[in-house]
Amino acid sequence: MISRDVVDEILDRTNIEDLVSGYVSLKRAGSNLKGLCPFHSEKSPSFTVYPRDNSFYCFGCGIGGNAITFVRQIEHMDYPDAVVYLGKRAGITVVKDAADDAYNAKKIDKSRFYKMNVDAAKYFHSCLFAKDPAAQNALRYFTEARGLSIATIRHFGLGFAPDSFDAFGNHMRSLGYSYDELVEGFLCGKSERGKYYDAFRNRVMFPIIDVSGNVIAFGGRVMDDSKPKYKNSSDTPVFKKLRNLFALNYARHTCSENLILCEGYMDVIALHAAGFTNAVATLGTAITSDQARLMSRYTKRVIITYDADEAGQKAAVRAMGMLSEVGLEVSVLKIPDAKDPDEFIKKFGKDKFRLLIENSRSKFEYNMERILSKYNLDAQQERINALKELVEFISTFYSEVERDVYIQAVSKQLNIPFAALKNDVSSQVKKRQRRFLKEENQKAIRQTQGFSDKVNPDFAKAPSVAKNEETVIGLLSLFENHQKKVFEGKLLTENDFYTDLNRRIFIYLRDCYESGIAPNLDENFSTEEVGRVTKMKLARMDLTENGDAVLEEAIASLKSSMQKKSAEGTSTMDALTSLIERMRNSTDN
Ligand code: UTP
Ligand code: MN
Repeated sequence: MISRDVVDEILDRTNIEDLVSGYVSLKRAGSNLKGLCPFHSEKSPSFTVYPRDNSFYCFGCGIGGNAITFVRQIEHMDYPDAVVYLGKRAGITVVKDAADDAYNAKKIDKSRFYKMNVDAAKYFHSCLFAKDPAAQNALRYFTEARGLSIATIRHFGLGFAPDSFDAFGNHMRSLGYSYDELVEGFLCGKSERGKYYDAFRNRVMFPIIDVSGNVIAFGGRVMDDSKPKYKNSSDTPVFKKLRNLFALNYARHTCSENLILCEGYMDVIALHAAGFTNAVATLGTAITSDQARLMSRYTKRVIITYDADEAGQKAAVRAMGMLSEVGLEVSVLKIPDAKDPDEFIKKFGKDKFRLLIENSRSKFEYNMERILSKYNLDAQQERINALKELVEFISTFYSEVERDVYIQAVSKQLNIPFAALKNDVSSQVKKRQRRFLKEENQKAIRQTQGFSDKVNPDFAKAPSVAKNEETVIGLLSLFENHQKKVFEGKLLTENDFYTDLNRRIFIYLRDCYESGIAPNLDENFSTEEVGRVTKMKLARMDLTENGDAVLEEAIASLKSSMQKKSAEGTSTMDALTSLIERMRNSTDN
């Protein structure tokens, strides 16, 4: 484990406000700061930073904690990596002691993985320029069939995997990598009979590079019509397909105004070669919300240019939704007379493509066209249906100003009075709001009943007991004088706790107190659990005046409810939920 002195020093030197500001745009709200949560999609800010406590909490999704928790969650790191990361940021070298080495030995060494991938990329790249006919054939595929220059090939580090079952593996083993490592990195495979083989054979190779410049994976394409067209590395310890974008390592430098999102590696390469260096692609899958959030860190506006076929257009509509949800402006560019951007640029040149970009339609225009083209506007009933659909669509926009602009456009296009349309849209907006509130309400009810409380699954069985436990834990984490009173005076023991989560936290806090170190939840609990404790704490932060009385009362009721231990619980709510529990259990059996 990393020494606690170092961790505390790092936390001391890390200003949560600065850290979070690198990811979220924060606005002051009283003594706190608020912004749109980077961990879930939301339109009004419920993500709050508490400078006074050096902590954060999102009231929407329950993620919260200190700087370490934030880095664990946003960079998808485990605890030791998050500490090292923050250490670097604060200018503190994290020296790992022996126990920590043992910890790391069991885990995969990321830097070795990166090095292995770089060595693999170098090998594939050099194979492309070898003298044998197969290599020359591969090079011609890139230069002639795909029209790439040598400079572009070098820029993207493209390569060739020879048609051999062991040439690559042998080379890598001569560099000191074991077959086990190569299999783990999806560079080699192992047959059922235990024979190792090269994963990529007779394919041209596209290295995938993350924003830090590490080679994290490969895509390999056949040079004819055989299937599968592309073979991609599966997820590895350093590569999560759904969280990365092809060429973002380059695009990040030129995409602050807008970013071009394509479907294929070849589209991106052709665009970069033509000067559109702000193009990226997903990695052989539909876009995910992680990828959408990743883009929102680098740009304001995304121009989607998917393939012209129906599948591509369907995917574009889906992507549009994902991207607007994270607050990005979106427009869609439909490629005329070519199947994808790569082909379009080859056929018509880059200036024509620039024109397309300039005229790319906004989300609204794109959808208005899509809706209008479905209906025969001369037939009265169809016209009404088209209008209904447009009104419904406009009502999904958050800003009233924006809605008015679109109402204006529809009113012109279909020759309907503005006021009438506006009326329809307003009532649709109200309907949506009511539906939203109702859903929120139901969600809240479900949560208090605990049906979706994954963090503390016992909460449902005795909500009022669990609430008292949370009061105790919240106050204990906030004020040291409470710790002294409760732990030294043995006012409570773990047996007074009903829910497993709260009992574990209580034991942890007491262990820390007894060994004289400050609690460091991130070392022992999941980020979700840390978030829950943060909530317990923050909810009681302003209780300084009567903190003592509240604590005493909570302790007293915990004592008495554990004494009663009656199946009926302590409230009507408890009785109901435990009844439901029992019914569930009996139907399960
Ligand atoms: P496309 O078939 O449009 O590929 O698939 P492309 O990049 O335009 O390739 P060319 O122009 O035919 O060479 C789009 C993307 O979907 C993924 C790849 O990431 C590809 O770039 N894909 C496609 C796969 O992962 N596997 C496949 O078999 C096919
Ligand atoms: Mn293509």
